[in-house]
Amino acid sequence: MGKINAAITGIAGYVPDYILTNDELSRMVDTSDEWIMSRIGIKERHLLKGEGKGTSDMGAEAVKSLLEKTGTSPDEIDLLICTTVTPDMQFPATANIISDKVGIKNAFSFDINAGCSGFLFGMSTASKFILSGKYKKVVLVGADKMSSIVDYEDRSISPIFGDGAGAVLFEPTTEDVGIIDEILHVDGAGRKHLHQKAGGSLKPPTHETIDAREHYIYQEGQPVFKAAVKGMADVSVEMMEKHNLTSDTLTWLVPHQANLRIITATAHRMNLPPEKVMINIEKYGNTTDGTLPLLLWEWEKKLKKGDHLIFSTFGAGFTWGAIYLKWAYNS
Ligand code: UT7
Repeated sequence: MGKINAAITGIAGYVPDYILTNDELSRMVDTSDEWIMSRIGIKERHLLKGEGKGTSDMGAEAVKSLLEKTGTSPDEIDLLICTTVTPDMQFPATANIISDKVGIKNAFSFDINAGCSGFLFGMSTASKFILSGKYKKVVLVGADKMSSIVDYEDRSISPIFGDGAGAVLFEPTTEDVGIIDEILHVDGAGRKHLHQKAGGSLKPPTHETIDAREHYIYQEGQPVFKAAVKGMADVSVEMMEKHNLTSDTLTWLVPHQANLRIITATAHRMNLPPEKVMINIEKYGNTTDGTLPLLLWEWEKKLKKGDHLIFSTFGAGFTWGAIYLKWAYNS
């Protein structure tokens, strides 16, 4: 038998109905559509509203639609991995809750937290289970209810994030498609610039932590911006060079959607024209673990078997990296 590769064989996404526009946000904090569009490139973001709704609800919607689209029964799934920074609760894993909600009973499941690189690190992890030969159908879900940790009184954070989820199916193939290579990095020293101050074991919740608004995202924008541009551009160019990919032979850049300026700087370093870069930040903002699968969901019909894709991310940790994948099917 030929060498096994791990291929993406299906994709689905979900965004909640409610749309928070820049105009509405400008009535909540001192900002403007002009500032947000020119500094970040976001016009609107979807938010999950309603009592008792968490990340797993969006993840479950994405997985249900993935199973339907691919004609897969929940019983066939061997493993479900959820990547998230906003789990329904500290434990159990949101992956287990999603599995329960969609009726996946013959699988094991767990969460991964790698900041905005969660889905990328999840692709690496999911593919290893496929390559082991033991697992045939692995679901990878990226889902975040970022609105649960965004301070809507803070103008430096509130425009950036949105809620959403996406799910992909990984299956083995002996064809020359699927994940070809990965370059993944972390630098824990970067945590000082982007983190959540309270709520974990280091600083459990108290009245004081709530009064000090320490359960929201803390971000120093500029150092994160600089590290993100360098991290994403360096690793994407390294991947291109390693595989002799050029701006002609690379079909798509699939970049994390944190800031339009970070995406265009990365594409520029790769010498890629805008029509080869997937961008939907304008509609969804930064959905953290949702950005990569939501891009694939939207671009699926344009993707052709054998297309060369580079996924590239940067996030809290710091975490960053690139994955080179050959697309496995025509829609
Ligand atoms: O995905 C996880 C990784 N995260 C990222 O990749 C995010 C990286 N960082 C960024 O994308 C950008 O740094 C931000 C979008 C967060 C901020 O943009 P910036 O161009 O770096 O702005 P800044 O923080 O340097 O602030 C510039 C000015 C400040 O005013 P002063 O001090 O110059 O008077 C801010 O107070 O812009 C002000 N400002 C705003 N003004 C209007 C900050 N937020 C806003 C706002 N509306 N929403």
